[in-house]
Amino acid sequence: MKDIENQDDLYLLVDEFYKKLLSDDSISYIFTDVVKIKIEEHLPILVTFWSQAILGTGGYTNNLTQIHMDIDKKEHLTKELFDIWLNHFYTTVDEIFIGEKAEKIKTQALSLATIMQIKVFQQNQKH
Ligand code: HEM
Repeated sequence: MKDIENQDDLYLLVDEFYKKLLSDDSISYIFTDVVKIKIEEHLPILVTFWSQAILGTGGYTNNLTQIHMDIDKKEHLTKELFDIWLNHFYTTVDEIFIGEKAEKIKTQALSLATIMQIKVFQQNQKH
């Protein structure tokens, strides 16, 4: 096994990750019913995002936390959903990669998931 080195590696990662998410009934409905993602458009955005975060390339300009707060307004993103998401993410990384960047991407995912859950909680306190 090798470490994450380039955008092709990230594409492989997000592709395998989304196969897991979309075949798990406990979370797939968010991607198929609540927000109807077009996978062929969605995966390149995920690659750009993670490439910026892990490989130091630029190009991602969207407000990631706000996007997830908007999803939460349609369907509550519970702690259980975040745990399922993280579990599939960690499993996918560990199945394919090993090394410093593989560790970094899992840490970043956990930090972002934590920030999103705090923001979602604050949003739901307001009304
Ligand atoms: C409960 C957990 C999560 C669920 C159910 C979820 C679901 C979604 C959905 C439905 C979209 C598509 C939004 C749209 O196109 O309008 C999306 C976009 C995205 N998500 Fe998540 N997400 C979760 C957690 C996370 C976490 C923790 C991260 C990062 C560490 C993340 C990274 C992304 C990225 C990069 C996009 C693309 C945003 C863009 O279009 O610019 N997600 N997510």
